[in-house]
Amino acid sequence: MKVSKLLMGLFAGAMSLAVYAQQPIVIKFSHVVAADTPKGKAAEMFAKKANELTQGKVKVEVYANSTLYKDKEEMEALQLGAVQMLAPSLAKFGPLGVKEFEVFDLPFIFNGYDDLHKVTGGAVGKNLLAKLEPKGIKGLAFWDNGFKSFSANTPIKTPADLKGKKMRIQSSKVLEEQMRSIGSLPQVMAFSEVYQALQTGVVDGTENPISNLYTQKMHEVQKHLALTDHGYLGYAVIVNKKFWEGLPADIRKQLEDAMEQSTRYANQIAKVENDSALDAVKKSGKTAVYVPTKEERLAFKKAMVPVHQKMEGRIGKEVIQAVYKDIGFKPDSL
Ligand code: LMR
Repeated sequence: MKVSKLLMGLFAGAMSLAVYAQQPIVIKFSHVVAADTPKGKAAEMFAKKANELTQGKVKVEVYANSTLYKDKEEMEALQLGAVQMLAPSLAKFGPLGVKEFEVFDLPFIFNGYDDLHKVTGGAVGKNLLAKLEPKGIKGLAFWDNGFKSFSANTPIKTPADLKGKKMRIQSSKVLEEQMRSIGSLPQVMAFSEVYQALQTGVVDGTENPISNLYTQKMHEVQKHLALTDHGYLGYAVIVNKKFWEGLPADIRKQLEDAMEQSTRYANQIAKVENDSALDAVKKSGKTAVYVPTKEERLAFKKAMVPVHQKMEGRIGKEVIQAVYKDIGFKPDSL
């Protein structure tokens, strides 16, 4: 009797171990934008590829639109291990203490995606990701979104048109200075709160890549959009370092492959998604879309470029110079 009880116990134990062994490893991937954006789609692609390449041993649960965490909270949740993967905008790393990332927020530093890839795909990008490790974060990749444009309820043609306007920004000292350089009043606010703040007049305007503007329906509460393309917004895909390093080596390798494929996808669709969001904004008829002339864009650039030097002490002269060198930055022309 005793022996059979013991055998039954052992059998039950073995069964639960077998069940346990079959449980997939869960990666919670939290982000703040809509599923139908470059980041949202790339996150879904990663979930799909991770599932395929690990043959179901890893399940990636994607939480879009701040359903799990708002932008301020998500970084802390990752460091605590409550969520395993994020793709915060590059602006989010300054407040974490890795101020060199703010080089990406400098207005008019990049002239297009090619410039950007020279930086993210080169030594500067690699060194920046390495700086996250002492924070318990492993940086896996850079994902594009796009170039930001200004919106408000009044027409925007010159920097003076934004003078005195309350403009929502992400929490970034560089973006604060950028707004001050044209006489606007920067207002730091979580992404999930922007639509309502625009609707109720808590802020007058904001800046966004068009995919973010459109998928949050901000164009419905902004009468004017000027395609200034004055700054870049993109992402670093990051994981909790302890979690990542604790994964079995073969699974980690498969996930690295999944990340490589999703990164290629992310950077292929970013421009297309932003272009089609712009078409949709135009079709909606709710916002007047203005394309500034070259001279008008140059006036914005002239007003904003002094921010580079002003922020040198914070971001680091070396990293700014390294980026300038990678892309052949020209302060006076477009
Ligand atoms: C923002 O707050 O505007 C962005 O960080 C949103 C995003 O993740 O694209």
